[in-house]
Amino acid sequence: MSAATIPAQREPDLPGQIVVVIGGSAGIGLETARRARAEGARVILTGRNRDRLDQAAREIGAERIAAFDANDATQLESFFQDLPGLIDHVMVTAGTPHYRSPLEVPPEEARHDLTEHLLLALNVARSAAGRVKPTGSLTFMGGTGARRPRLGLAIVASVTVAFPALIANLALELAPIRVNLIAAGFVDTPLSASLLGENLDRRRDELRETLPIRRVVGPADVATLAVHIMSNTALTGATYDIDGGQQLVS
Ligand SMILES: NC(=O)c1ccc[n+]([C@@H]2O[C@H](COP(=O)([O-])OP(=O)(O)OC[C@H]3O[C@@H](n4cnc5c(N)ncnc54)[C@H](OP(=O)(O)O)[C@@H]3O)[C@@H](O)[C@H]2O)c1
Repeated sequence: MSAATIPAQREPDLPGQIVVVIGGSAGIGLETARRARAEGARVILTGRNRDRLDQAAREIGAERIAAFDANDATQLESFFQDLPGLIDHVMVTAGTPHYRSPLEVPPEEARHDLTEHLLLALNVARSAAGRVKPTGSLTFMGGTGARRPRLGLAIVASVTVAFPALIANLALELAPIRVNLIAAGFVDTPLSASLLGENLDRRRDELRETLPIRRVVGPADVATLAVHIMSNTALTGATYDIDGGQQLVS
């Protein structure tokens, strides 16, 4: 068959599969849900704010929502127990990084900041284990921004280094379910807007000028990677960087 006669259309990547997005009402999670829908998936969205979830669910045609704090292990466990049947994939985008000065954080808060994101992954893995099909996957979100030591980043940096090790080990524990991590640089989402405040536009301009890709990474870029990780059954235990080359220049 010549190149000119190859059909342009292809089969969807996730036909009829069920994708749960923990943190699916905004940003990377919402875009991943949208992308999964476009690839034929049925999606279930969770988040803390019910109104935001309702709106997101209407926007993309989600079939179910659940409002709870994913850092509450009991509610997380109940959510997975209450699912009507087995699911195919879980994407976890809940949680926020803790950028507090390490020497000023009181001990209990330091313990919280050091453990919250890792415990969320562990709790999702434990709660989802019996609910995800053997052919399915778990995908988590981490970052690249704290890989190099910088003042004020000690806590985020420690979590950044620990996360890939946790994910690789969970991939062994949960096999044949696949477990992977996406490590993003700056992504233009509501979270970035809230962290940067009035400096957001300046940061966008700076990135457009300095990143090798000459544009800002958006949530749809990360969503494309997430859906690929769900559908490519060769991928497990790995960390996938997506930062437009930010680590090469900053
Ligand atoms: N944006 C970036 O530049 C960037 C870079 C590297 C890594 N990341 C990581 O990627 C993930 C997603 O980031 P994003 O920028 O898409 O964030 P976002 O725009 O703030 O969206 C986060 C989503 O998760 C939900 N959520 C947050 N905390 C939750 C909790 N405790 N329980 C349940 N749902 C929760 C939010 O809804 P509710 O607030 O209603 O709960 C929202 O739907 C985060 O873990 C972030 O640290 C982001």
